[in-house]
Amino acid sequence: MAPLSELDSLQRTLNQAIDSLRDELNRQSLPELTSKAHRHPMDDYAFLCSPRLYEARRLTLAAIGEIKNLVQFPFEKVVEQACAVYDTACLDILVKTGLVDKLAEPSVLNDGMDVHDLQEALDMDAIKLTVVLRDLSSQGWLRERREGTFALARPALELIGTSAGRMWALNTGRPLVAQALMDQLTHPEWKYSHRANHSAFQLSHKTDLAIFDWMKLHPDRASQLSKTIQAVGDAYRVATVNDFPWKKLEGRTFVDCAGGQGNLSIILSEILPQSQFIVQDLPEVIATARENIARTAPAAAQSARIIAEVANIFDVQPRRGEGFVYLLRLTLHNWSDEACISILKNIASVMSPTSKLILLEVVAQPNTLLLGPGPAPGVSCEPAVTLDTLIGEETYRPITSPEYIPTNFGAAARTSLTLDIQMMALFNAQERTQREWTVLANSAGLHVVDVHAFRGTVSALECELSRP
Ligand SMILES: C[S@@+](CC[C@H](N)C(=O)[O-])C[C@H]1O[C@@H](n2cnc3c(N)ncnc32)[C@H](O)[C@@H]1O
Repeated sequence: MAPLSELDSLQRTLNQAIDSLRDELNRQSLPELTSKAHRHPMDDYAFLCSPRLYEARRLTLAAIGEIKNLVQFPFEKVVEQACAVYDTACLDILVKTGLVDKLAEPSVLNDGMDVHDLQEALDMDAIKLTVVLRDLSSQGWLRERREGTFALARPALELIGTSAGRMWALNTGRPLVAQALMDQLTHPEWKYSHRANHSAFQLSHKTDLAIFDWMKLHPDRASQLSKTIQAVGDAYRVATVNDFPWKKLEGRTFVDCAGGQGNLSIILSEILPQSQFIVQDLPEVIATARENIARTAPAAAQSARIIAEVANIFDVQPRRGEGFVYLLRLTLHNWSDEACISILKNIASVMSPTSKLILLEVVAQPNTLLLGPGPAPGVSCEPAVTLDTLIGEETYRPITSPEYIPTNFGAAARTSLTLDIQMMALFNAQERTQREWTVLANSAGLHVVDVHAFRGTVSALECELSRP
C-alpha cells in the first residue's frame, strides 16, 4: 500500500482523535461540546478525564496544529505570529477593563451585548471595541451573535471570578519581559551566563536583583506571581492526586521543600490521612503559607499534621528521618543546572536508602517527527500505544505520537513550551527533558527510579539514593 501523504495521514489522525473523543464523551455520559457559555464538566478542575479522553483531546489539538502549519499561507503565518502580541493586548483589555465581567452578567450571558451598550456601560469607544472584540471572537473567547453583538464563548468563563486562568490573565509585566528576551540572548556579557540575575527580567525591570530578591521589595507583584503558581497547582490538582501512586507512601513524613503556600501538602494530606507534612520556604513566604494552611486545612493545621517552617534550599536539608519523602514541585525549573545540583545534593545528603525525593516538574519532550514508518529519532521501538489500546484503561499512560505528529504533540504542548520561555525570561532557567533530569539527579548521587506522566503539564520523577 502506498504511504499516505502528510495531509492524508494528519486528516486520518484527526478523524481518529475526534471519533475517540466523541466515544469517550458517550461512555462517560458527558454532554456534547459547545462553544456556548456553559461550563462543560471537562472544564472543571475536579474532573478527571479518562486516559483515552485526555489523549484524544491532546491528539486532536496536535493534529489541528500540524494541519494548520501545512495549509496556512506562510506570509499570513508570519503576520499572525508577529502580531500575536496584539492578541495578548486584546485579552488584557477583555479582562482588565471589566468587559468580561460585564458580558458574564446573567442578563446578557447568552444573548450578548451590542457594542453601543458596552460603550455606554464601560465608557469605551464602540468602534474601537468592535476591532478588539472581533479579534477575540476569532480566537474563540467570544461569539459575534449578530453584527456588533458579542457574547462570551465557553473558554471565556475561565477568565471570570477566581478562576486559575484569570490569575494568569491578570499577571502584569509579561510583555515587558518578552520584549527584553532578545537582549538576554544577545547580551555581550550575559549571553552564555546561567546566573539567576542575568535574564530578561533584570533587563526589563532595570535591576541587578534575581527575581525572588526583587519580589521581596515588591510584595504586590510577589503575590501576583504566587497566585499564578497556585493556579497551575489548582488546574492540575486532580492529575497530581490520581497519576502518582501516593497511597504506597501513606504514613510517611513528607518534606515539601520550597513548598510555597503549602498547597501540594494540603491536597496530599487529604488522601494520606496518616502522613505528616512539613512545608518549607523563605521567611517572607512562610507567614502567608501558615495562614493559607490554617484557612484551607484547619484540622490538619490545628493538629500540627501540616506545619510550615523556614528553610533555605541552598542549605543542607534540616529534616532527616527514616523513610522521609522530600517533595520539590515546580522549583528546580527556576534554577540553573549548577544550582539544581546544589539543591539536590542538600537533600540527598540527609536521605537514607528508604527515603524518596519526588520531583514534580514538566518533563519536556523534543519536537522530533516521524516522517514515515518506524520510530521518530530517540523514540523507543516498543509497541505503539494508541487510542484504541487505552479503551477501558484507568491508569494513565501517554499514547505514542503517530506519523507526522511531533513527539511532544506540538500544538498540544504549547502550555509547557511557553512555561519554558517564561522560566528562561524570568529566572534564566528552563524546563528539562527526562534525559536532562536524569543527568541532574545522577550528579547529586540520586537515580530516577520511575517517571509518572500526568494528565496535565507536570509529571513526577521518583528518585532514590544511588546504590554504591
Ligand atoms: C515556583 S514556586 C513553587 C512553590 C510550590 N512548590 C508549589 O508547587 O506551589 C517556587 C518557590 O521557591 C521558593 N524559593 C525560592 N528561593 C528559595 C530558597 N532559596 N529557599 C527556599 N525556597 C525558595 C519561592 O519562595 C517559591 O515559593
